[in-house]
Amino acid sequence: MADAPPLNTQIIFASRDRKRAVEEAAKTILAGDIAVLPTETVYGLAANALDGQAVQKVFAAKGRPQDNPLIVHIAEISMLDDVARDIPQESQALMEAFWPGPLSIVFKKNLNIPDVVSAGLDTVAVRMPHNQLMLDIIKKSGVPVAAPSANRSGRPSPTTAQHAAEDLLGRVPLIIDGGSCSVGVESTVLDMTGDTPLILRPGSITPGMIEKTIGKVDLHPAVLQGLRQGEQAQSPGMKYRHYAPNAAIFVFEGNKKTIAKNINARYDYYNEKSQNPVVFCAQECAPFYAGKETCVLGASHDEIMCSLFARLRQADDIGYGVILFHYTEEMGLAVKNRILRAAEGAAK
Ligand code: TXA
Ligand code: MG
Repeated sequence: MADAPPLNTQIIFASRDRKRAVEEAAKTILAGDIAVLPTETVYGLAANALDGQAVQKVFAAKGRPQDNPLIVHIAEISMLDDVARDIPQESQALMEAFWPGPLSIVFKKNLNIPDVVSAGLDTVAVRMPHNQLMLDIIKKSGVPVAAPSANRSGRPSPTTAQHAAEDLLGRVPLIIDGGSCSVGVESTVLDMTGDTPLILRPGSITPGMIEKTIGKVDLHPAVLQGLRQGEQAQSPGMKYRHYAPNAAIFVFEGNKKTIAKNINARYDYYNEKSQNPVVFCAQECAPFYAGKETCVLGASHDEIMCSLFARLRQADDIGYGVILFHYTEEMGLAVKNRILRAAEGAAK
């Protein structure tokens, strides 16, 4: 299908005029249009979740496969019943502990929610974001807001309004710039519709944190591996290529010194072949790669999560041919899942 002619994209900086940012965003959503909005995790591309035609525009602007459902964002607990039904009792403790915040919970869907939002599933993922600007916009609009990450499908999620603009300028009427996202990876997705709570996507809210609140949770096996041939994706997002940079990515994990030796050898090999290699690592590992092209992601777990997507985008801008990724335990499950996905999708 031919692309629609480019739209005039209005960008509003919330730091300059917060009131106008909230009003314009709410107006756009209520008019059945779409807008890029900040959340604490990543920027989202938002539409009125009760308006199927508006939600359809989100899929079109992103180039998102129709069978990948969206997360619905609410600003108050009273909005939950409009979105979901049969809320299990244990979820109460989860919502109290982690909302507002980066935890999306999969519930049975309320029939108010059009099929396009949930890609025809009878469930819906819901979260109450922590970002105050986003909360104010949802409250002002008075409707639940469906919003996937505001990237073109297959690109790293945007953690700044500039990233979202790189992907969506001319494809959306409005971008609200609310500054950099504080978390930097997308929310944890937890399915509460089965016998045991199941993590479908890891995020900054870890399995340990969830277990402290509700007891045992399972981790879907696809979180740390690709789907096996013929296996049905429980979270449709699992089966799509994600975060695919132009560079080939190789992930190394294990004893730090052994890995460093391997990475250094691989680096020299690619360098000799003029393939522009770069090493991605945590601050503590940077000394292993002195004199080499390195991208230090940060010193702490939180810093590394926060910078990962921006660094992947930057790697494309710089034109690296090969990313040698030194994974360390401290980086955590969310980073591991995203980088394995990126490696899967990357050009090899
Ligand atoms: O942090 C976030 O979650 C961001 C911000 C904007 O809130 N949103 C986000 O949305 O990452 P998206 O669409 O990029 O990812 C949503 C993920 C996908 O993997 C999708 O398959 C899964 O959630 N998902 C949505 N609804 C689902 C459902 N009913 N059952 C299982 N998985 C679902
Ligand atoms: Mg996404």
